[in-house]
Amino acid sequence: MIEDFTYYTPTKVVFGRGAENKTGELVAVLGCKKTLLHYGGGSAERTGLLGRIRESLREAGVSFVELGGVVPNPRLSLVNEGIELCRREGVDFILAVGGGSVIDSAKAIAYGAADEERGDVWDFYARIRVPRACLPVGSVLTIAAAGSEMSCSSVITDEATGTKRGYGNDLCRPKFAVMNPELTMTLPAYQTACGCVDILMHTMERWFGGGGRMELTDGIAAALMRTVIRNAKILVSEPENYDARAEVMWAGSLSHNGLTGCGTDGGDWATHQLEHEIGALFDVAHGAGLAAVWGSWARYVYKENPARFAQFATEVMGLQPAATDEETALAGIAAMEDFYRELKMPVTIRELGIEPTGAQLKEMAEKCAAKFEGGAAGTMKKLSAEDMERIFRAAM
Ligand code: NZQ
Ligand code: ZN
Repeated sequence: MIEDFTYYTPTKVVFGRGAENKTGELVAVLGCKKTLLHYGGGSAERTGLLGRIRESLREAGVSFVELGGVVPNPRLSLVNEGIELCRREGVDFILAVGGGSVIDSAKAIAYGAADEERGDVWDFYARIRVPRACLPVGSVLTIAAAGSEMSCSSVITDEATGTKRGYGNDLCRPKFAVMNPELTMTLPAYQTACGCVDILMHTMERWFGGGGRMELTDGIAAALMRTVIRNAKILVSEPENYDARAEVMWAGSLSHNGLTGCGTDGGDWATHQLEHEIGALFDVAHGAGLAAVWGSWARYVYKENPARFAQFATEVMGLQPAATDEETALAGIAAMEDFYRELKMPVTIRELGIEPTGAQLKEMAEKCAAKFEGGAAGTMKKLSAEDMERIFRAAM
């Protein structure tokens, strides 16, 4: 059955070589008075990208202030610093130069700075209040991964309590996304691979939902996933292959802007929820955390819908059907794990280089379940805290 859906993608995409030099114009036409230039821990400065962005803003007559220092799994403390800065300086536009972490931090600052109640921005992530406004955000993307450049969500970590929370609202969808695939050529191989895993997972989460499917969406989703797999393998040996970078970058945006979820129930998302708990406690790279738990999640739930897993095995992983859907399903899961290994991604939690204790696995499962009404995550199979703990243990 095809579920009803709303598809909303207001983000203007400027894609290609040298696209970053158009950033100033893109901000200027929005008519904002002062911009916050927000960035990460140093890569954008080192590569000269920030210099070109400053130049582009100055040329377009855009005045700006700066706040760098966003870390992966972006932190609430810097978000609060950004909100203060925006209020003090009268900032009315936020330009994120970086990856998902910088864009997510920018979105959180944008909610906080536009909040007339001047309350705690964490309230939105903790579902205590709903934002009524958000400053406009734009981005210059430097890593293909999270899809935040076109998505409605942002994920922030309150480092004081070790809590990582995502929040989705159309208000924060970026006004524009500048995407030059060349900018991603300076990424370490590990980050490129993490990005490819995350891109795949955003469509896999939607593919493995609890109901609702559409032939057209399945076709788009399968093509997207096959494209990412093929080009991720190319990038292992040819990190400067422009076309492979471009395929992956565009796939990253389409994988999380809603397109591959049209007609579905919205997706399962349990693997993401499980990863967010690992990321909150151990600060691992998001994509690597997903690779470490996905196989264990899949083996735990595939019996709910072996035919859907079998379809994944044949249409995405390119396998021949086995005697039964169950066998095909398991072969498809193993094939995806082999692909992760080819990218040097972990397929267990230990391979992330961490060693959570039994008590920590239990704590992560309980924290994860507590985020949901009724204490259950996922739609392919509703997972209780006990289920999640079993998955974490299987993933060790
Ligand atoms: O800080 P710098 O020095 O820039 O280094 C970054 C960072 O260490 C580096 N990097 C980025 N572009 C580079 C580069 N290094 C060299 N050359 C470049 N061109 O890469 C590292 C990772 O960056 P980050 O922004 O953290 O990566 P990603 O885009 O994977 O974002 C991860 C965050 O996004 C969240 C994750 O949970 C995680 O916190 N997610 C956000 C989503 C959303 N908003 O829709 C959805 C996702 O599912 C995800 O949860
Ligand atoms: Zn993700």
